[in-house]
Parts: sequence; C-alpha cells; structure tokens
Amino acid sequence: MKFGYFDDKALEYVITTPKTPLPWINYLGNKEFFSLISNTCGGYTFYKDAKLLRLTRYRYNNVPYDNNGKYFYIKDGDTIWNPGWQPVKTALDSYECRHGLGYSTWTSSKNDVEAKVLTFVPMEDNCEISKVTLTNNKKTDAKVTLFSYVEWCLWNADDDMKNFQRNLSTGEVEVTDGGSVIYHKTEYRERRNHYAIYGVNTKVDGFDTSRDDFLGAYNGPDSPDAVAAGKCTGSVASGWSPIAAHQIDVELKAGESKTFIFTLGYIENPEDDKWEAPSVVNKKPAVAMLAKYNTEAAVDEALDVLKKYWNELLSIYHVSSSNEKVDRMVNIWNQYQCMVTFNMSRSASYYESGIGRGMGFRDSCQDLLGFVHLIPDRARQRIIDIASTQFQDGSAYHQYQPLTKKGNSDIGSGFNDDPLWLIAGTSAYIRETGDLSILKEMVPFDNDMSVAKTLMDHLKCSFNFTATHKGPHGLPLIGRADWNDCLNLNCFSEHPGESFQTFGPSEGPVAESVFIAGMFVKYGEEYAQLAELLGDNAEAERARAEVKKVYEAAITAGWDGEWFVRAYDANSNKVGSKECEEGQIYIEPQGFCVLAGIGIEEGLAEKALKSVEEKLDTKYGIMILQPAYTKYHLELGEVSSYPPGYKENAGIFCHNNPWVSIAETVVGHGNRAFDIYRKTCPAYVEEFSEIHATEPYVYSQMVAGRDAKFHGQGKNSWLTGTAAWTFVNISQYILGVYPTHNGLSINPCVPEDFGDFQITRKYRGATYNISVKQNGAQKGIKSLTVNGKAVEGNVIPYEEGVKEYTVEAVLG
Ligand code: BGC
Ligand code: NOJ
Repeated sequence: MKFGYFDDKALEYVITTPKTPLPWINYLGNKEFFSLISNTCGGYTFYKDAKLLRLTRYRYNNVPYDNNGKYFYIKDGDTIWNPGWQPVKTALDSYECRHGLGYSTWTSSKNDVEAKVLTFVPMEDNCEISKVTLTNNKKTDAKVTLFSYVEWCLWNADDDMKNFQRNLSTGEVEVTDGGSVIYHKTEYRERRNHYAIYGVNTKVDGFDTSRDDFLGAYNGPDSPDAVAAGKCTGSVASGWSPIAAHQIDVELKAGESKTFIFTLGYIENPEDDKWEAPSVVNKKPAVAMLAKYNTEAAVDEALDVLKKYWNELLSIYHVSSSNEKVDRMVNIWNQYQCMVTFNMSRSASYYESGIGRGMGFRDSCQDLLGFVHLIPDRARQRIIDIASTQFQDGSAYHQYQPLTKKGNSDIGSGFNDDPLWLIAGTSAYIRETGDLSILKEMVPFDNDMSVAKTLMDHLKCSFNFTATHKGPHGLPLIGRADWNDCLNLNCFSEHPGESFQTFGPSEGPVAESVFIAGMFVKYGEEYAQLAELLGDNAEAERARAEVKKVYEAAITAGWDGEWFVRAYDANSNKVGSKECEEGQIYIEPQGFCVLAGIGIEEGLAEKALKSVEEKLDTKYGIMILQPAYTKYHLELGEVSSYPPGYKENAGIFCHNNPWVSIAETVVGHGNRAFDIYRKTCPAYVEEFSEIHATEPYVYSQMVAGRDAKFHGQGKNSWLTGTAAWTFVNISQYILGVYPTHNGLSINPCVPEDFGDFQITRKYRGATYNISVKQNGAQKGIKSLTVNGKAVEGNVIPYEEGVKEYTVEAVLG
C-alpha cells in the first residue's frame, strides 16, 4: 500500500494523506541553515549545529507524535484548520504535500478555502521562507483569519530541555512594525551576538510572543485560545516560553487569492555593533533580509535558484535505463539523501535528537563517498576538518561538534576502524578530482596546529595505527568497536545505564576484528596508490607488504570454513563462527573482505557470498547476523542487548547490504547484486509502505529482521551510511562508472535482463556520454570505443583539453 507517489518530472514525492505511518520528512537548507519538516508541518530549524544553535523548539518523545512545528492556522467561521492537518487535525477536504529537493509544499482545502504553502531555505541566506496563498473558492466573499506560530528554542537544545530553573527567566523578545516582525533575543544581552526573527510582509492585526498567552494555560498548539478567539493578545514575553505568532485578518472576494510571505531568520551581528540603542538590538541585517524576500517575485526567483542548483548538481551523474525505479533513485533521491547525510552526519533527524551526536568520524568519511562528485570543494574541506580531530598515533575522536569542529571528549576515541575511513574518503576525493594538493595540506592533530603535519602524514598515521595494533592472530585489534558500534568486545558492562560506547577500557590486547582486516586490505591498497602518486614507491611497497600480512591472517585465522569469522573476543574465542551458539555468521566481513578482493583467488569469496544468501537473506534484505542473540552476552556487549531482529542484533542493517552487493559485482554476479540492491531500494519498498512505515524516498538505517515481530518495518530513516554506500554500489559497481586515478573506468555488472542504458557523467571538467549495450551479459566489456577509437581495458584515457567524450561500451 502506498501513501503517495513519485513525480519524477517535478523531482518530488507527493504525499496524498497526512496520515502516513510515521512522519515523512524533508530537509530544507544546503549549507548552514537547516530545517527538518514533516508532511504535517512538524519539525524545527537550526543554524550550523542542531545542538548549540537551535532556533525553534521540538519535542522528541512526545505525544501526540511530531507535534511541534511551524504552524499556520486558518480560522474560517467556527472551523479552524491547518494546511498540514496537524496540530488541530481538522479533517481536510483535500490535502497534498510535495517534498522536493530542498523545499516542500502543501495544498489543502477546507470549506472551499484553499491554502497553498511553500517552504524552503534560499541558497544565499540564513532563513526559511514560507509563502502562504489563500484562495476563496466559495461563491461568496469570505473573511478568514490566518495565524502563524513558532516556538523559540533558547538556542542550546540540550540545555533548553533541562535547565528550567534558569531558562524560564531568560527569554526576551522585541516586536516591531506593529507586530509584523518579532525578534527573539534571549541571551543576546550577554554572550551571544545572534538573534532570530519571524516576520511577515504585511501589516498584521495582532501578534503574540508569549506562549501561554497565545495558547492559554494548559493548552497545546492543537487548541490555541488566541486562534479560537480569532484574536491575538499582543503579549510581549518576559521569561517563560517566547514564541512568535502573527494574526492576519484576510478578506477574500469570491475566487480571490492573497499571498503572505513569512521569514524565519538567523542574524549575527559584529561584537562591536550589537545594539542600535541601549537594550535595542541592531536590526539592520534583519531588515535587509526581510526586504530581500518581501515580494512574491523575489521568493519565486529564490526558489528557482534553488531548483537550478539542484538540476545542475544532479546532472553530474544521470542514468537513463529501462528501469524507472533505478533512474529515479540514481538521478534524484539517492543523491539527495547523500547531500543530506553529508550535511547532517548523524546529528539531526526524527531518530537522532540533534543533541546527542555531532559529526561522526567514520560516518562523515563514508558520507563523502556518495557526495564527493556533487561538490568536491566541500568534500575537501570536510576531509581537512575530520583529519584535524585525529590524534598523533593515528587514532581519532569518534565524533566532533560541527560548530566548534573540535573532537567530542565525552565519547573520546578507541573505535579502531575510524582511522582507515580517512583513507577511504581522501582516496575517493582524489580519484574524483585528481587534486593531489590536498595531500600536502598541513593539518593539525587534535586541532593543535603546533603539531600539524601533511594530510598524507595523517593517512600514514591511520595506516600505521592498524598495522601496529594487531592481536594474537595477526588481525587488527578492535578497540571499543569497529564499524559495528555494538560489538563491544572489551567493554564487559554489567550495569544498566553504562554506555556501551564509553564504558570499560577502550583498548584490549586480544579482541580482533576481521572486518577491519577487510578494510585494511581495501584501504591499505588505496593508501599505497596515493603514495605512488606522490612518487614514494618505497612507502607503497611497505604498505603492500603490510597488507599482505593481514590478507594472510584474514584467509587463515579469519576463515571459518564456509564464511569469514567476524572477530575474536577478549578471550580469543571466535565471534561469528559455526562454533558459536548464537551469532554464527555476520554480514560485515563477508561483504567487506570480498569487496576488498580477499579470498577470490582462493575460492573463499564465492563460498562466503553463498553462505550469506543461504543464512542471512530475507525478502526485505540481508540480516546483519544469524542466529539472533537471545541472551545478553557480557563478552559481546550491545550487539546482544537488542531484542532479536532489531538493530545490530539480526536486523537488516541497510548500510552493509551494498557491501555484499558490491562484493557480488566483484565476482561478476549481476543478477544477485541487483537482487540485493532491489530489496532495500526505497523506490521498490514504496509498494509496501504500510509495512515499511518510513519514507519511501530515502533509505532507513534498519529494517526489522526475520526474528522481529515487525519484520520488514523500517526505522531511523535519512541519516545513514546506507545512502552513500548504495549510491556507490549502484553508480560505480552495478552501473559501473568508477573514478580511478587515471580516469573513469567502465565496468558494469547488471542483471541479464537489464537492457541497454545511457549515463551522463561530468568528471574532472569533461562530460562523458556513455552508452552501454548490454547484450544479455551480466559483466565483462567486449569492446570500448571512446570518441570513435577502440580502447583496450576499462579505463577511458584522459586527454588534456577534451571536454566531451562519447563512449560506447559493449558487454559480452
Ligand atoms: C546503535 C548503533 C549506533 C550507536 C551510536 C547504538 O545504540 O545501536 O547503531 O551506531 O548506538 O552511538
Ligand atoms: C550507526 C552509526 O552511525 C555508524 O557509525 C555505525 O557504523 C552503525 N550504526 C553500526 O553500528
């Protein structure tokens, strides 16, 4: 069952009922000012950092679900309704929400009054614009009242929901233009030089800035007293909970429309220019911002700029095949999600509160893989920011705060896969751009410039960290955990409330990870290639020798007979082995070792993939492990803390499904690779949205596994490494356009009935028009012609000055 449909032409998903199984959200903002917005207008806004600079309040874990947002109320006689249905939940005569790339719209009607709301964050300013158009479709003139409502957050979202003894006394506002513009200036009098505004481009008939006055004591946004009365109270908040609400009385002739533009903005003033008079904030930049967007033409133009921006970005990789679902994911939604994960890491979604985690080291490095082709310059900066939180021994802070860019010492370090992801991200950037200069950039350790070294030196530290942290079997030590945050082999936590992420020693001399071995083989080789590019053949040779040792360990101690072992625990017992009572096989080493090339020559790779298919596959995707842990295993940690079938305990953890799919392409199984791709692919999953529950246009982190009560149900949508890895999988391995250091390589691996397809790829300043004749083959290039000339091998030779490449690839 579906709750909407894809409108590919408009690059939108159209939601046709507000009653989706869960809130289906969108992200507004591309650079520093962001909003999360649901199909019922729930959500919130922040500048740069969802924890430290939160503009509007949201209540996670609240009932009813998703009930704070930026709301418009329409009072038409005795009927009060919202274009997004929430919070009043008056039944609407019609409702449609369209989530587009960086904007959302609602078109709803009640009693022959139609409301159209368009909300987006313009490219160049730190504000969210809402254009609200009311149309009177009645046969007679109508008088309605339009109310707006946002609730301010007192900036630090964490403190805002804890420190009431202080916060209930700090709230301050200013009101100008008869109530049209409301300034939220809490803490501006002391250490802040920023405030927020909510303004409308018309004269208003009333306003409120105190929540209790607008809503009425004991009321929620579902029943504001002011709206019921048809009149705001003109309150000026002092402490308690400041809000911004406007009241506009609208007279509409039959058939007439009127449009109002609301601007929710963030303003920063220079320290020495904070005030225009004692206690009166300097409003010049706010006034300028409001003036910029005070006409419909200006708003439409800003939306146009945003749309053009996205069209341009999406033209960098564009496929046209006979499979509309693949085309829609590759050309629109998968790339869009990659941008969002790049911007947010794992900080702010409807499942990540924005106060818990900042930017993840491993997460951001992986997000780069799916984003780097879109805006390489931002990827470059991100790599430097991430590397700046590395320690001199190569280990790294697991997270950092986007505002300060400093490592987060609450969580610290010790996740031993982290260092190698830096090589992954950097290598992807250089393969995309050819920009070797990044390797020579001086980058601090732990943000201390006095101990800066080149980025290449950082990568060397990463590489050496793994090479010098090995356990009894010659496999890399796992530390607190590797990619699987829940495999806590040195933790031994016995008491509730202890964090698996921080409790116990961060290191242990015995517990080893076969997954990190796979990473080391893959990214060790990529490191060696970078050393060669810099002319350091000795280092490349040294690296390859180290890689060889780990490769050997992986196919011996890391091999269990039919699949790769997952790890060795602190007692040197196998994890993910047929010897185990539960958790006998894990997905991660099968996918990653094979995609790294481990065991292909030895015939182990095919066996490992077969075991995955036999033991882990379900109709909704591949489970992370089997059999699920039914008991808590002290020696394994969080992985066994989840009920069977959820999250890392035998859930379908979508992030690692593409690893297996990529591995299948490496061994040439196009049918199987695509089958895996299809199972978690949102455009396919849309068909059973009532089971899947999360948004059908983006990936979720997890789908409940076979052991779970709600097998097939998605959770944690949007912020997941799944976005980047599935894009890498479909674009670089299945469709097979992979950037190498020497140019684009063309090596598709598709299902036999996929048909011919065309790809446009912009790469290093040139456009490649690639057409692939499939010939019923799954993999293998029979011939490759570039600008009319036959080419040996798979790589399109790069020719200085050539701006257009016409490429014809024939499989067979
Ligand atoms: C989750 C993991 C997550 C970790 C991050 C765990 O509870 O299961 O998926 O990576 O928390 O802190
Ligand atoms: C989600 C985390 O963001 C990611 O870093 C981790 O690899 C996975 N969970 C698996 O535990």
